[in-house]
Amino acid sequence: MNELNDLYREVILDHNRDPRNFGEIEDADRVVEGVNPLCGDKMTLYVKLDGDRIADVRFKGTGCAISVASSSLMTERVRGASVDESMRLYDSVHDMLTGSGAPSEDLDKLAALAGVREYPTRVKCASLAWHALRTALAGGEDRVSTE
Ligand code: FES
Repeated sequence: MNELNDLYREVILDHNRDPRNFGEIEDADRVVEGVNPLCGDKMTLYVKLDGDRIADVRFKGTGCAISVASSSLMTERVRGASVDESMRLYDSVHDMLTGSGAPSEDLDKLAALAGVREYPTRVKCASLAWHALRTALAGGEDRVSTE
């Protein structure tokens, strides 16, 4: 188990040091601003759709290592995925962060985030990007605060 924890820690550190898909999309179809009400940190999520697929997804913002790594892992995973697939993934991540069972197998590398559920204040850090994603894919307003 310790080896697994080390591996997970390394995934988080790697995505914080070198965040994937960091930046803006000028012609994004959806732009969502997410705020962590506990610390005030903000992230902005940009989504470009091609039919029901996520053609491109990027993020910008400031936050702790967990929130940056979670945003990076999320964008890496959903880029090219369908909207339905991504919504299902949101549910799996939400269950992992708020539940107590083993992370579902479809989460793969995202299981690295499972450790934060031991620390309730960190759950908001890890879920910030995912709430923004769900809001973006659900449509509605282009800019919303995710709390
Ligand atoms: Fe602000 Fe984690 S402490 S997002």
